[in-house]
Amino acid sequence: MKVYVDHDLCIGCSLCAGIEPNVFQMNDDNLAEVIAETTPQTENTVAEAIDSCPVSAISQE
Ligand code: F3S
Repeated sequence: MKVYVDHDLCIGCSLCAGIEPNVFQMNDDNLAEVIAETTPQTENTVAEAIDSCPVSAISQE
């Protein structure tokens, strides 16, 4: 599945990158970038990141 981070919402808390660094990485502006699609190996941690983001900036389809 494709994962998206809304940069208008992201406040750079970096929780997502801490939970799943294979999918989320902080960029030079301290915003989360998606570096990979969700795979069976990462679907649980991506779901956890979506639930953990304090501003609900992460979505996937
Ligand atoms: Fe940003 Fe939410 Fe990740 S605020 S850094 S998308 S947990």
